[in-house]
Amino acid sequence: MSRQMKFVAFLMAGPTSHHHAMWRHPQTENRFLDPVFWESLARTLEAGKFDGFFFADVLSFYNETTMARGGQMSLLDPIPLVAIMARATSHIGLGVTISTSFQEPYAIARVLSSLDVLSGGRIAWNVVTSAIDREAQLFGEALLPRSERYDRAEEVLKVCLDFWTGWADGALFLDKESGDFIDEAKMRRTDITGKYVAAKGVFTVPPSIQRHPVIMQAGSSPRGRDFAASYAELVFTLQHSLPDMQAFYGDMKDRADKAGRSPDDCAILVSVDPIIGETESIAREKQAYINDLVDPRLAIPFMSAHIGVDLSQYPLDRPINDIPAEAGSRGSFDVILQATKASNLTLREAAKHFATSELCPQVVGTPESVADQLQEFFDNKGCDGFIVTATEMPGSFEAFTRSVVPILQKRGVFRKKYPGSTLRETIQM
Ligand SMILES: Cc1cc2nc3c(=O)[nH]c(=O)nc-3n(C[C@H](O)[C@H](O)[C@H](O)COP(=O)(O)O)c2cc1C
Repeated sequence: MSRQMKFVAFLMAGPTSHHHAMWRHPQTENRFLDPVFWESLARTLEAGKFDGFFFADVLSFYNETTMARGGQMSLLDPIPLVAIMARATSHIGLGVTISTSFQEPYAIARVLSSLDVLSGGRIAWNVVTSAIDREAQLFGEALLPRSERYDRAEEVLKVCLDFWTGWADGALFLDKESGDFIDEAKMRRTDITGKYVAAKGVFTVPPSIQRHPVIMQAGSSPRGRDFAASYAELVFTLQHSLPDMQAFYGDMKDRADKAGRSPDDCAILVSVDPIIGETESIAREKQAYINDLVDPRLAIPFMSAHIGVDLSQYPLDRPINDIPAEAGSRGSFDVILQATKASNLTLREAAKHFATSELCPQVVGTPESVADQLQEFFDNKGCDGFIVTATEMPGSFEAFTRSVVPILQKRGVFRKKYPGSTLRETIQM
Protein backbone atom coordinates (compact mmCIF):
# COMPACT_ATOMS: atom_id res chain seq x y z
CA MET A 1 0.00 0.00 0.00
CA SER A 2 1.32 3.48 -0.81
CA ARG A 3 2.03 5.98 1.97
CA GLN A 4 -1.25 7.18 3.47
CA MET A 5 -2.21 10.73 4.48
CA LYS A 6 -3.40 11.48 7.99
CA PHE A 7 -6.22 13.90 8.75
CA VAL A 8 -7.06 15.41 12.12
CA ALA A 9 -9.76 18.08 12.46
CA PHE A 10 -9.02 21.18 14.55
CA LEU A 11 -11.84 22.03 16.97
CA MET A 12 -12.31 24.36 19.90
CA ALA A 13 -14.86 23.90 22.67
CA GLY A 14 -16.90 26.94 21.76
CA PRO A 15 -18.04 28.85 18.70
CA THR A 16 -14.64 30.31 17.79
CA SER A 17 -11.84 28.54 16.00
CA HIS A 18 -8.56 28.86 14.14
CA HIS A 19 -10.10 31.27 11.61
CA HIS A 20 -11.33 34.22 13.63
CA ALA A 21 -14.36 34.87 11.47
CA MET A 22 -15.67 31.30 11.43
CA TRP A 23 -18.34 32.05 14.03
CA ARG A 24 -19.57 35.03 11.96
CA HIS A 25 -20.05 33.10 8.72
CA PRO A 26 -23.75 32.99 7.77
CA GLN A 27 -23.57 29.20 7.31
CA THR A 28 -21.98 28.57 10.70
CA GLU A 29 -24.15 26.94 13.36
CA ASN A 30 -23.05 28.37 16.70
CA ARG A 31 -24.66 25.42 18.52
CA PHE A 32 -21.75 24.68 20.81
CA LEU A 33 -24.02 24.36 23.88
CA ASP A 34 -25.97 21.53 22.25
CA PRO A 35 -24.48 18.03 22.68
CA VAL A 36 -26.36 16.89 19.56
CA PHE A 37 -24.25 19.29 17.49
CA TRP A 38 -21.00 17.70 18.71
CA GLU A 39 -22.33 14.17 18.17
CA SER A 40 -23.30 15.02 14.62
CA LEU A 41 -19.92 16.65 13.90
CA ALA A 42 -18.09 13.57 15.20
CA ARG A 43 -20.17 11.34 12.90
CA THR A 44 -19.40 13.58 9.90
CA LEU A 45 -15.66 13.33 10.54
CA GLU A 46 -15.84 9.59 11.10
CA ALA A 47 -17.77 9.14 7.84
CA GLY A 48 -14.82 10.95 6.20
CA LYS A 49 -12.46 8.40 7.83
CA PHE A 50 -10.48 11.14 9.58
CA ASP A 51 -7.78 9.76 11.88
CA GLY A 52 -9.24 11.96 14.54
CA PHE A 53 -10.26 15.37 15.72
CA PHE A 54 -8.77 17.31 18.56
CA PHE A 55 -9.80 20.17 20.74
CA ALA A 56 -7.15 22.85 20.92
CA ASP A 57 -7.56 24.61 24.24
CA VAL A 58 -6.75 27.79 26.03
CA LEU A 59 -7.64 28.15 29.70
CA SER A 60 -8.22 31.91 29.78
CA PHE A 61 -9.38 34.64 27.44
CA TYR A 62 -6.31 35.84 25.55
CA ASN A 63 -7.15 39.47 26.42
CA GLU A 64 -10.10 41.90 26.67
CA THR A 65 -10.21 42.53 22.92
CA THR A 66 -10.38 38.89 21.94
CA MET A 67 -12.99 38.32 24.65
CA ALA A 68 -15.16 41.18 23.42
CA ARG A 69 -14.67 40.59 19.68
CA GLY A 70 -14.59 36.79 19.52
CA GLY A 71 -10.99 35.69 19.04
CA GLN A 72 -10.01 32.07 19.73
CA MET A 73 -11.30 30.77 23.06
CA SER A 74 -12.77 27.73 24.78
CA LEU A 75 -16.12 28.45 26.39
CA LEU A 76 -16.46 24.86 27.61
CA ASP A 77 -14.08 22.27 28.96
CA PRO A 78 -13.29 19.85 26.11
CA ILE A 79 -13.25 16.70 28.29
CA PRO A 80 -17.04 16.22 28.53
CA LEU A 81 -17.37 16.98 24.81
CA VAL A 82 -14.91 14.21 23.99
CA ALA A 83 -16.92 11.82 26.18
CA ILE A 84 -20.10 12.75 24.32
CA MET A 85 -18.47 12.43 20.90
CA ALA A 86 -16.93 9.07 21.80
CA ARG A 87 -20.41 7.69 22.41
CA ALA A 88 -21.58 8.81 18.97
CA THR A 89 -18.72 7.10 17.11
CA SER A 90 -16.74 3.87 17.10
CA HIS A 91 -13.43 4.42 15.29
CA ILE A 92 -12.37 8.05 15.04
CA GLY A 93 -9.60 9.33 17.35
CA LEU A 94 -10.56 11.84 20.03
CA GLY A 95 -7.91 14.40 20.97
CA VAL A 96 -7.93 16.64 23.98
CA THR A 97 -5.47 19.33 25.01
CA ILE A 98 -4.32 19.43 28.62
CA SER A 99 -1.60 21.72 29.91
CA THR A 100 1.19 20.22 31.98
CA SER A 101 1.75 23.50 33.81
CA PHE A 102 -1.14 23.66 36.27
CA GLN A 103 -2.40 20.18 37.12
CA GLU A 104 -0.84 17.28 38.96
CA PRO A 105 -0.03 14.28 36.78
CA TYR A 106 -2.34 11.92 38.66
CA ALA A 107 -5.40 14.01 37.76
CA ILE A 108 -4.34 14.14 34.10
CA ALA A 109 -3.48 10.44 33.86
CA ARG A 110 -6.70 9.41 35.58
CA VAL A 111 -9.14 11.39 33.44
CA LEU A 112 -7.36 10.56 30.17
CA SER A 113 -7.04 6.88 30.99
CA SER A 114 -10.70 6.69 31.95
CA LEU A 115 -11.69 8.30 28.64
CA ASP A 116 -9.31 5.98 26.80
CA VAL A 117 -10.90 2.89 28.36
CA LEU A 118 -14.45 4.10 27.78
CA SER A 119 -13.79 5.09 24.15
CA GLY A 120 -12.19 1.75 23.30
CA GLY A 121 -8.65 3.16 23.01
CA ARG A 122 -9.25 6.26 20.90
CA ILE A 123 -7.88 9.11 23.01
CA ALA A 124 -4.97 11.41 22.12
CA TRP A 125 -3.46 13.90 24.55
CA ASN A 126 -2.19 17.13 23.04
CA VAL A 127 0.49 17.91 25.62
CA VAL A 128 0.91 21.67 25.92
CA THR A 129 2.99 23.73 28.28
CA SER A 130 0.71 26.84 28.08
CA ALA A 131 2.10 30.10 26.88
CA ILE A 132 -0.09 32.86 28.30
CA ASP A 133 0.30 34.53 31.67
CA ARG A 134 -3.46 34.92 32.08
CA GLU A 135 -3.84 31.15 32.10
CA ALA A 136 -1.39 30.89 34.99
CA GLN A 137 -3.16 33.72 36.84
CA LEU A 138 -6.44 31.76 36.84
CA PHE A 139 -4.60 29.13 38.89
CA GLY A 140 -3.15 31.81 41.17
CA GLU A 141 0.27 31.29 39.63
CA ALA A 142 2.73 32.96 37.25
CA LEU A 143 3.95 31.37 34.01
CA LEU A 144 7.30 29.64 34.43
CA PRO A 145 10.06 30.55 31.94
CA ARG A 146 9.91 28.46 28.72
CA SER A 147 12.68 26.00 29.55
CA GLU A 148 11.23 25.34 33.01
CA ARG A 149 7.78 24.83 31.47
CA TYR A 150 9.31 22.06 29.37
CA ASP A 151 11.20 20.64 32.40
CA ARG A 152 7.90 20.40 34.21
CA ALA A 153 6.14 18.99 31.11
CA GLU A 154 8.73 16.24 30.86
CA GLU A 155 8.29 15.32 34.53
CA VAL A 156 4.49 15.33 34.25
CA LEU A 157 4.54 13.18 31.12
CA LYS A 158 7.02 10.71 32.63
CA VAL A 159 4.80 10.26 35.70
CA CYS A 160 1.73 9.75 33.49
CA LEU A 161 3.57 7.16 31.38
CA ASP A 162 4.73 5.42 34.54
CA PHE A 163 1.14 5.28 35.85
CA TRP A 164 -0.13 4.05 32.47
CA THR A 165 2.32 1.17 32.35
CA GLY A 166 1.79 0.17 35.98
CA TRP A 167 -0.81 -2.54 35.30
CA ALA A 168 0.51 -5.74 33.68
CA ASP A 169 -1.84 -7.59 31.33
CA GLY A 170 -4.40 -9.70 33.14
CA ALA A 171 -4.12 -7.81 36.43
CA LEU A 172 -7.88 -7.35 36.74
CA PHE A 173 -9.58 -10.62 37.78
CA LEU A 174 -13.01 -9.81 39.14
CA ASP A 175 -13.51 -13.50 39.78
CA LYS A 176 -16.84 -13.89 41.61
CA GLU A 177 -16.18 -17.53 42.46
CA SER A 178 -12.84 -17.07 44.23
CA GLY A 179 -13.33 -13.47 45.26
CA ASP A 180 -10.01 -12.57 43.61
CA PHE A 181 -10.32 -8.99 42.42
CA ILE A 182 -6.91 -7.68 41.29
CA ASP A 183 -3.66 -9.68 41.05
CA GLU A 184 -1.40 -7.65 43.31
CA ALA A 185 1.72 -9.17 41.74
CA LYS A 186 0.79 -7.59 38.41
CA MET A 187 0.53 -4.06 39.79
CA ARG A 188 3.58 -1.77 39.85
CA ARG A 189 3.83 1.09 42.30
CA THR A 190 4.86 4.49 40.97
CA ASP A 191 7.55 6.16 43.04
CA ILE A 192 8.81 9.36 41.46
CA THR A 193 10.02 12.55 43.10
CA GLY A 194 10.93 15.30 40.67
CA LYS A 195 11.69 18.99 40.96
CA TYR A 196 8.14 19.99 40.02
CA VAL A 197 5.91 16.99 40.64
CA ALA A 198 5.92 13.80 42.67
CA ALA A 199 3.74 10.70 42.75
CA LYS A 200 3.81 7.66 44.99
CA GLY A 201 1.34 4.83 44.83
CA VAL A 202 -0.57 2.46 42.61
CA PHE A 203 -2.48 3.86 39.65
CA THR A 204 -6.17 3.08 39.86
CA VAL A 205 -7.40 2.96 36.24
CA PRO A 206 -6.96 -0.24 34.22
CA PRO A 207 -5.27 0.13 30.81
CA SER A 208 -7.28 0.64 27.63
CA ILE A 209 -6.86 -1.64 24.65
CA GLN A 210 -4.29 0.79 23.22
CA ARG A 211 -2.74 0.82 26.72
CA HIS A 212 -2.48 4.60 26.99
CA PRO A 213 -3.48 7.70 25.02
CA VAL A 214 -1.60 8.67 21.87
CA ILE A 215 0.73 11.61 22.56
CA MET A 216 0.34 14.77 20.45
CA GLN A 217 2.56 17.84 20.72
CA ALA A 218 2.96 21.24 19.09
CA GLY A 219 6.05 22.87 20.55
CA SER A 220 8.33 24.59 18.06
CA SER A 221 11.23 26.09 19.99
CA PRO A 222 14.36 23.88 19.92
CA ARG A 223 13.35 22.58 23.34
CA GLY A 224 9.77 22.00 22.17
CA ARG A 225 10.99 20.11 19.11
CA ASP A 226 13.21 17.85 21.21
CA PHE A 227 10.34 17.17 23.57
CA ALA A 228 8.07 16.29 20.63
CA ALA A 229 10.79 14.17 18.98
CA SER A 230 11.19 12.15 22.19
CA TYR A 231 7.55 11.55 23.02
CA ALA A 232 5.03 12.66 20.38
CA GLU A 233 3.33 10.27 17.99
CA LEU A 234 1.58 13.16 16.24
CA VAL A 235 3.17 16.60 15.89
CA PHE A 236 1.03 19.59 14.97
CA THR A 237 2.81 22.53 13.36
CA LEU A 238 2.12 25.88 11.72
CA GLN A 239 4.15 26.34 8.51
CA HIS A 240 3.68 28.97 5.85
CA SER A 241 4.74 27.24 2.62
CA LEU A 242 6.14 23.98 1.25
CA PRO A 243 9.84 24.88 1.82
CA ASP A 244 9.04 25.83 5.44
CA MET A 245 7.18 22.53 5.88
CA GLN A 246 10.09 20.59 4.39
CA ALA A 247 12.60 22.26 6.70
CA PHE A 248 10.49 21.47 9.78
CA TYR A 249 9.77 17.93 8.57
CA GLY A 250 13.44 17.13 7.98
CA ASP A 251 14.46 18.64 11.31
CA MET A 252 11.83 16.73 13.30
CA LYS A 253 12.59 13.40 11.63
CA ASP A 254 16.32 13.91 12.42
CA ARG A 255 15.51 14.77 16.01
CA ALA A 256 13.27 11.67 16.34
CA ASP A 257 16.11 9.54 14.97
CA LYS A 258 18.57 11.09 17.42
CA ALA A 259 16.10 10.43 20.24
CA GLY A 260 16.31 6.74 19.34
CA ARG A 261 12.91 6.49 17.70
CA SER A 262 11.87 5.53 14.21
CA PRO A 263 11.11 8.74 12.31
CA ASP A 264 7.91 7.02 11.14
CA ASP A 265 6.70 6.93 14.75
CA CYS A 266 6.53 10.73 14.86
CA ALA A 267 4.03 11.92 12.25
CA ILE A 268 4.16 15.57 11.22
CA LEU A 269 0.81 17.24 10.55
CA VAL A 270 0.67 20.74 9.07
CA SER A 271 -2.26 23.10 9.45
CA VAL A 272 -4.35 23.80 6.33
CA ASP A 273 -7.54 25.70 5.81
CA PRO A 274 -9.42 24.18 2.82
CA ILE A 275 -11.92 26.43 1.04
CA ILE A 276 -13.81 24.47 -1.59
CA GLY A 277 -15.94 25.79 -4.44
CA GLU A 278 -17.80 24.38 -7.43
CA THR A 279 -15.33 26.35 -9.59
CA GLU A 280 -11.98 27.99 -8.86
CA SER A 281 -13.56 31.44 -8.97
CA ILE A 282 -16.37 30.48 -6.57
CA ALA A 283 -13.74 29.14 -4.17
CA ARG A 284 -11.71 32.38 -4.43
CA GLU A 285 -14.86 34.41 -3.75
CA LYS A 286 -15.60 32.29 -0.69
CA GLN A 287 -12.05 32.85 0.52
CA ALA A 288 -12.28 36.62 0.08
CA TYR A 289 -15.69 36.65 1.78
CA ILE A 290 -14.62 34.80 4.93
CA ASN A 291 -11.28 36.60 5.21
CA ASP A 292 -13.01 39.98 4.97
CA LEU A 293 -15.24 39.03 7.90
CA VAL A 294 -12.23 39.09 10.26
CA ASP A 295 -12.55 41.98 12.66
CA PRO A 296 -9.44 44.16 12.15
CA ARG A 297 -9.60 45.17 15.83
CA LEU A 298 -8.73 41.58 16.76
CA ALA A 299 -5.66 41.13 14.63
CA ILE A 300 -2.88 42.86 16.59
CA PRO A 301 -4.13 41.95 20.12
CA PHE A 302 -4.52 38.31 19.13
CA MET A 303 -1.13 38.03 17.50
CA SER A 304 0.45 39.80 20.49
CA ALA A 305 -1.14 37.34 22.91
CA HIS A 306 -0.02 34.36 20.87
CA ILE A 307 3.63 35.33 20.75
CA GLY A 308 3.78 36.97 24.17
CA VAL A 309 4.89 40.40 22.94
CA ASP A 310 2.82 43.62 22.84
CA LEU A 311 2.99 44.39 19.14
CA SER A 312 1.09 47.67 19.43
CA GLN A 313 4.46 49.31 20.29
CA TYR A 314 5.84 48.51 16.79
CA PRO A 315 5.15 50.40 13.54
CA LEU A 316 2.20 48.81 11.74
CA ASP A 317 3.45 49.67 8.26
CA ARG A 318 6.80 47.91 8.55
CA PRO A 319 7.67 44.22 8.69
CA ILE A 320 8.17 42.70 12.12
CA ASN A 321 11.56 41.20 13.02
CA ASP A 322 12.40 38.48 15.52
CA ILE A 323 12.13 39.64 19.16
CA PRO A 324 13.09 37.51 22.19
CA ALA A 325 9.94 36.31 23.97
CA GLU A 326 9.80 34.14 27.09
CA ALA A 327 6.06 33.68 27.11
CA GLY A 328 4.19 32.91 23.93
CA SER A 329 4.49 30.25 21.26
CA ARG A 330 7.70 29.98 19.25
CA GLY A 331 5.77 28.09 16.56
CA SER A 332 3.43 31.03 16.08
CA PHE A 333 6.32 33.48 15.89
CA ASP A 334 8.14 31.28 13.36
CA VAL A 335 5.19 31.23 10.97
CA ILE A 336 4.81 35.02 11.26
CA LEU A 337 8.47 35.50 10.34
CA GLN A 338 8.22 32.97 7.47
CA ALA A 339 5.23 34.77 5.93
CA THR A 340 6.66 38.25 6.55
CA LYS A 341 9.81 37.29 4.66
CA ALA A 342 8.09 35.38 1.85
CA SER A 343 5.61 38.14 1.01
CA ASN A 344 7.30 41.19 2.51
CA LEU A 345 4.27 41.73 4.76
CA THR A 346 3.87 44.71 7.02
CA LEU A 347 2.95 44.02 10.63
CA ARG A 348 -0.66 45.06 9.87
CA GLU A 349 -0.89 42.63 6.93
CA ALA A 350 0.76 39.79 8.85
CA ALA A 351 -1.68 40.28 11.75
CA LYS A 352 -4.69 40.20 9.43
CA HIS A 353 -3.55 36.94 7.84
CA PHE A 354 -2.66 35.52 11.24
CA ALA A 355 -6.31 35.98 12.21
CA THR A 356 -7.46 33.97 9.19
CA SER A 357 -5.32 30.84 8.84
CA GLU A 358 -2.54 31.79 11.29
CA LEU A 359 -0.48 32.33 8.10
CA CYS A 360 -0.75 28.64 7.16
CA PRO A 361 -1.92 27.70 3.64
CA GLN A 362 -5.51 28.35 2.71
CA VAL A 363 -5.98 25.54 0.21
CA VAL A 364 -8.52 27.02 -2.16
CA GLY A 365 -10.20 25.61 -5.27
CA THR A 366 -12.37 22.84 -6.64
CA PRO A 367 -12.24 19.49 -4.84
CA GLU A 368 -9.74 18.21 -7.46
CA SER A 369 -7.47 21.20 -7.07
CA VAL A 370 -7.64 21.06 -3.24
CA ALA A 371 -6.67 17.36 -3.44
CA ASP A 372 -3.77 18.27 -5.78
CA GLN A 373 -2.46 20.93 -3.42
CA LEU A 374 -2.60 18.59 -0.43
CA GLN A 375 -0.80 15.92 -2.40
CA GLU A 376 1.91 18.37 -3.36
CA PHE A 377 2.69 19.01 0.33
CA PHE A 378 2.45 15.31 1.17
CA ASP A 379 4.38 13.85 -1.80
CA ASN A 380 7.23 16.34 -1.42
CA LYS A 381 7.90 15.42 2.22
CA GLY A 382 6.38 18.56 3.63
CA CYS A 383 4.23 16.49 5.99
CA ASP A 384 2.65 13.14 6.81
CA GLY A 385 -0.81 14.63 6.93
CA PHE A 386 -2.93 17.61 7.88
CA ILE A 387 -4.64 19.41 10.69
CA VAL A 388 -7.77 20.58 8.92
CA THR A 389 -9.29 23.85 10.11
CA ALA A 390 -12.75 25.18 9.30
CA THR A 391 -14.06 28.46 7.98
CA GLU A 392 -17.71 27.36 8.28
CA MET A 393 -18.93 25.04 11.01
CA PRO A 394 -19.78 22.28 10.27
CA GLY A 395 -19.95 23.15 6.54
CA SER A 396 -16.19 23.10 5.91
CA PHE A 397 -15.88 19.56 7.29
CA GLU A 398 -19.00 18.38 5.46
CA ALA A 399 -17.71 19.75 2.15
CA PHE A 400 -14.23 18.32 2.69
CA THR A 401 -15.39 14.82 3.65
CA ARG A 402 -18.01 14.74 0.86
CA SER A 403 -15.89 16.09 -1.99
CA VAL A 404 -12.11 15.94 -1.33
CA VAL A 405 -11.85 12.71 0.68
CA PRO A 406 -13.33 10.49 -2.12
CA ILE A 407 -10.78 11.91 -4.59
CA LEU A 408 -7.87 11.12 -2.27
CA GLN A 409 -9.31 7.65 -1.65
CA LYS A 410 -9.56 7.03 -5.39
CA ARG A 411 -5.94 8.13 -5.78
CA GLY A 412 -4.94 5.55 -3.15
CA VAL A 413 -3.44 8.06 -0.70
CA PHE A 414 -6.17 7.93 1.93
CA ARG A 415 -7.92 5.03 3.65
CA LYS A 416 -11.38 3.79 2.70
CA LYS A 417 -11.85 2.06 6.04
CA TYR A 418 -10.27 2.10 9.46
CA PRO A 419 -7.58 -0.56 9.92
CA GLY A 420 -8.62 -1.51 13.47
CA SER A 421 -10.45 0.04 16.35
CA THR A 422 -7.85 2.05 18.27
CA LEU A 423 -6.37 5.43 17.39
CA ARG A 424 -2.81 4.07 17.56
CA GLU A 425 -3.68 1.43 14.94
CA THR A 426 -5.22 4.14 12.74
CA ILE A 427 -2.24 6.49 12.84
CA GLN A 428 0.25 3.67 12.27
CA MET A 429 -1.51 2.70 9.05
C1 LIG B 1 0.28 24.51 16.01
C2 LIG B 1 0.26 24.81 17.46
C3 LIG B 1 -0.87 24.47 18.22
C4 LIG B 1 -0.91 24.71 19.58
N1 LIG B 1 -2.03 24.43 20.29
C5 LIG B 1 -2.09 24.77 21.59
C6 LIG B 1 -3.27 24.58 22.35
O1 LIG B 1 -4.29 24.10 21.86
N2 LIG B 1 -3.27 24.97 23.63
C7 LIG B 1 -2.17 25.51 24.23
O2 LIG B 1 -2.21 25.83 25.41
N3 LIG B 1 -1.03 25.70 23.53
C8 LIG B 1 -0.99 25.34 22.24
N4 LIG B 1 0.16 25.55 21.55
C9 LIG B 1 1.33 26.03 22.29
C10 LIG B 1 2.40 24.97 22.43
O3 LIG B 1 1.95 23.75 22.86
C11 LIG B 1 3.51 25.46 23.33
O4 LIG B 1 3.07 25.54 24.66
C12 LIG B 1 3.94 26.81 22.92
O5 LIG B 1 4.05 26.84 21.53
C13 LIG B 1 5.28 27.18 23.57
O6 LIG B 1 6.25 26.27 23.19
P1 LIG B 1 7.28 26.58 22.01
O7 LIG B 1 7.86 27.88 22.35
O8 LIG B 1 8.21 25.42 22.08
O9 LIG B 1 6.54 26.64 20.72
C14 LIG B 1 0.21 25.31 20.19
C15 LIG B 1 1.33 25.65 19.43
C16 LIG B 1 1.37 25.40 18.08
C17 LIG B 1 2.60 25.78 17.30
